[in-house]
Amino acid sequence: MVLERTLVLVKPDGVERGLIGEIISRYERKGLKLIGLKLLNFSRVKAEELYAIHKGRPYYEKLIEFMTSKPIVAIAIKGNNAIDLVRLINGETDPLKSVPGSIRGDFSTDITYNLVHASDCKENAESELAILFSPEELCSYN
Ligand code: CMP
Repeated sequence: MVLERTLVLVKPDGVERGLIGEIISRYERKGLKLIGLKLLNFSRVKAEELYAIHKGRPYYEKLIEFMTSKPIVAIAIKGNNAIDLVRLINGETDPLKSVPGSIRGDFSTDITYNLVHASDCKENAESELAILFSPEELCSYN
């Protein structure tokens, strides 16, 4: 058992298309546990903090504009191998590699408007969770 926590964001396209429930249900059905959940407008400051490693890339400005354009949903998830399992459920960033059955493979054709974000490693998961949630917003239960 490798118990991990991770951050998922339903991006503005997922909220606009009414896919919040569809997306959340996939993590729940897998057996992962939601420990934090909220709908919010992502501030530019926080979006830039989350995507700091992408700064300077050609798609960076478009990404920040997109992520701050409309509400997002932040989800804190806990479970066995949660980091890699969530990324498997989400599918690849490249729409030509995201296979049917994954969220991106089923619902997206675009590399920017790709519905979900998920942390890629333990260290980033903890720092990304701290950007979106205060400690008291995360629940501990069995
Ligand atoms: P995400 O998992 O949120 O992490 C970085 C985001 O940058 C990625 O999903 C995409 O939405 C966006 N992006 C846009 N263009 C590219 C690209 N060429 N390569 C990687 N990420 C990109």
